[in-house]
Amino acid sequence: RLVSMTDMLNKALEEKYAVGQFNINNLEWTQAILQAAQEEKSPVILGVSEGAAKYMGGFKVVSAMVNALLETMDITVPVALHLDHGSSLETTTAAINAGFSSVMIDNSKFPIEENIAATRQVVEYAHSKGASVEAEVGSVGGEEDGVTGGVIYADAQECLRMVQEAKIDALAAALGSVHGDYDGEPKLGFDEMKEISELTGAPLVLHGGSGIPTHQIKKAIEYGHTKINVNTELQQVWTRRTREVIANDEKVYDPRKIIGPGKENITETTKAKMREFGSSNKA
Ligand code: G3H
Ligand code: ZN
Repeated sequence: RLVSMTDMLNKALEEKYAVGQFNINNLEWTQAILQAAQEEKSPVILGVSEGAAKYMGGFKVVSAMVNALLETMDITVPVALHLDHGSSLETTTAAINAGFSSVMIDNSKFPIEENIAATRQVVEYAHSKGASVEAEVGSVGGEEDGVTGGVIYADAQECLRMVQEAKIDALAAALGSVHGDYDGEPKLGFDEMKEISELTGAPLVLHGGSGIPTHQIKKAIEYGHTKINVNTELQQVWTRRTREVIANDEKVYDPRKIIGPGKENITETTKAKMREFGSSNKA
């Protein structure tokens, strides 16, 4: 029942909205995000970093959990299960073999020639299994799950080569966004964004979606972004709630009473993002 990102993102590109990728960490996260998608009648991409997959017990556990929830929660909206920042052909292959419907191969630390060649190999395998592929050109800044780096702006010609030569389904063209919190207003390269979108015609992906003000989100969507990744904000709203729960009840020790309430906050924040991205009622 999982679907790849291809149809979702092409429809989003045509109708000018973006589908959210929301990163999951455990059962509660997955339930909360799927519930939000169903209530908003929105397509959704569940993002799983290699670190998060390992934490949950591996790709097979994640895939089994998500598939079971689609069934038991009666989820009818399109859902993609996507490996976030996949680091190699081995891990992307393992994720697909375990049932992931989409992968990102992040070879952004390599020179463009190697990045394209390695991405092409991932695409060949993924497409043979009906899975979609996202690649990164330039470099998203900040830190996520031990993946760190400075900001390097994507070059338009390199983006075009990546799209044409590797035949990817979605392009993460790094243009100043960072993982984690921003120091003041994000400084996104909107001129470059417009140029890359027009030149490649590819569905663009915005990493570091937490903390970007609405007017910049709207502009990014206008300039070809069809997928926006959100991780940090969901972690923050869940943690805030969980701290409150513990602070307000000295006697609480039932883990379900401690980690459960924050699910509401994840669902609410996810729904608000879906409305902001314009993906509500697009399922
Ligand atoms: O790949 C995941 C995202 O780019 C998340 O970024 O944690 O800043 O929302 P974020
Ligand atoms: Zn990212």
